[in-house]
Amino acid sequence: MPKVRLHRNGQIYEQEVPENSNLVVLAGTKKFPQIRYGCGMGRCTRCVSRVLAGGEHLPEPNWKEVKRLGEEKLKNGYRLTCQLWITHDIELLQEN
Ligand code: FES
Repeated sequence: MPKVRLHRNGQIYEQEVPENSNLVVLAGTKKFPQIRYGCGMGRCTRCVSRVLAGGEHLPEPNWKEVKRLGEEKLKNGYRLTCQLWITHDIELLQEN
């Protein structure tokens, strides 16, 4: 199972998640409640995370991420967490 390490509010939360999990779905079902999210549909950007490690295993940003985040943020490792399905270990930062 992939391991997710989340940095948020000065804390580090780490847990294994089922293969191919969507982290916002896990947050919504209280299985990973520390993850910040909103719409779950790639619209609000509340779930934005900076990928610190493991980004090489993620698919290319989809059109919603391109539209909401823009080239600069994507280039700096930002992704919409609600648009990611996790298949490998990943480390994320959610800034306030
Ligand atoms: S939760 Fe709204 S864009 Fe991801």
